[in-house]
Amino acid sequence: EFSWTLPDHPKLPKGKPVAVVVLDGWGEANPDEYNCIHIAQTPVMDSLKNGAPEKWRLVKAHGTAVGLPSDDDMGNSEVGHNALGAGRIFAQGAKLVDQALASGKIYEGDGFNYIKESFENGTLHLIRLLSDGGVHSRLDQLQLLLKGASERGAKRIRVHILTDGRDVLDGSSVGFVETLENDLLQLQEKGIDARIASGGGRMYVTMDRYENDWDVVKRGWDAQVLGEAPYKFKSALEAVKTLRAEPSANDQYLPPFVIVDDSGSAVGPVLDGDAVVTINFRADRMVMLAKALEYADFDKFDRVRVPKIRYAGMLQYDGELKLPSRYLVSPPEIERTSGEYLVKNGIRTFACSETVKFGHVTFFWNGNRSGYFDETKEEYVEIPSDSGITFNVAPKMKALQIAEKARDAILSGKFDQVRVNLPNGDMVGHTGDIEATVVACKAADEAVKIILDAVEQVGGIYLVTADHGNAEDMVKRNKSGKPLLDKSGGIQILTSHTLQP
Ligand code: 3PG
Ligand code: CO
Repeated sequence: EFSWTLPDHPKLPKGKPVAVVVLDGWGEANPDEYNCIHIAQTPVMDSLKNGAPEKWRLVKAHGTAVGLPSDDDMGNSEVGHNALGAGRIFAQGAKLVDQALASGKIYEGDGFNYIKESFENGTLHLIRLLSDGGVHSRLDQLQLLLKGASERGAKRIRVHILTDGRDVLDGSSVGFVETLENDLLQLQEKGIDARIASGGGRMYVTMDRYENDWDVVKRGWDAQVLGEAPYKFKSALEAVKTLRAEPSANDQYLPPFVIVDDSGSAVGPVLDGDAVVTINFRADRMVMLAKALEYADFDKFDRVRVPKIRYAGMLQYDGELKLPSRYLVSPPEIERTSGEYLVKNGIRTFACSETVKFGHVTFFWNGNRSGYFDETKEEYVEIPSDSGITFNVAPKMKALQIAEKARDAILSGKFDQVRVNLPNGDMVGHTGDIEATVVACKAADEAVKIILDAVEQVGGIYLVTADHGNAEDMVKRNKSGKPLLDKSGGIQILTSHTLQP
């Protein structure tokens, strides 16, 4: 039907490299005081925009244009890099899960039938990010699944929550917990023993990615599986309210907690015979936990007790590792990606970022597939990220090092395509720290310069783009675009991505 062979490009100079630079979280928005890209000194990006208007354009990076369910969905790195790497738009996890829930097909597949076998004598555990951010998960999907599973025989359900504050406003965790506890109360009235069992902030508990910091996953394991955490509460609402009362508290970083009964025992450790579903649809921040839950041989941390469970993911998160082996919804089949075409045509690729975005230009770029297509033609370089810090304290991140690696790769003559992700606008934008984000944007701009200078030196071509917006708008706005104020008259910082092109 199709051919892997690529014809020569009419314009690309033969034997000259093409650099692809993805500025993570870098969008176009009104130039005001909350637009960190505007405030920052970004002479290189400014000159690209102003110097060659015929080569500069806006592209949509959110909503249906990138395969998300609706145009209210902000863009994100997974869908952005999937689309960039494949050159095509696929219905993404969020949408596929919506469809499977709406049609009821989710309850007919192998994955659900497998976990259902635990319903008679075991507990169903649902582990997930609790918000309506739509990047990794959405609250309404949990609500539907709770209903659907209980109608199909789940008698004892434990939800392990991860508070957000990154894809949604900081502080919104309290409202989401309230909603969920109400839903669980309604299930209890129907005779189902349904409770929140544990929790913690997503960036401190469970949702690390690309193996940056296994301690994050271990903290989650201890709370969710072992039922052990430094904080114990009678209810999740009490937990988030109390933990948020600390002056520096932040939904993204709440410490792990477990819910205990009157005698002080955890209400929901994972035990032999239970079923566990990690119900985020997005892969990157579930893969590490999936490995801990699924692999018999696992040495990243001491699991202490490894219960015999039936485990399924919402989706299969890694197509190459086939991880997890059981899942409720089939992931998008992102095949024939550009990376695969390149190796099949003998074109040599170099890809680089720092740990927290490394998988974006490899795993996501290649259609949620880990590893190389052809190791003889590809080189992937990961620069270790700082771990255990929030990136507003080191906003330049590893931009310079990434740029230097890219420069060396370009000048080496060993590669035809050199692609990088510069994380600054996104990772620092997510902290909500405006001053630091300005520093971040400047650092990214300087990195772009190093790469473009090298391309020019060898007579190559560059494409500078972004996966979605973030740093260009740091405040929550009303419909007419004015900053929304909170009860005390302060602005509401926007830590999330945006709908901007
Ligand atoms: C995250 O996982 O850090 C955020 O939820 C989304 O950010 P990303 O899509 O830029 O990775
Ligand atoms: Co982001």
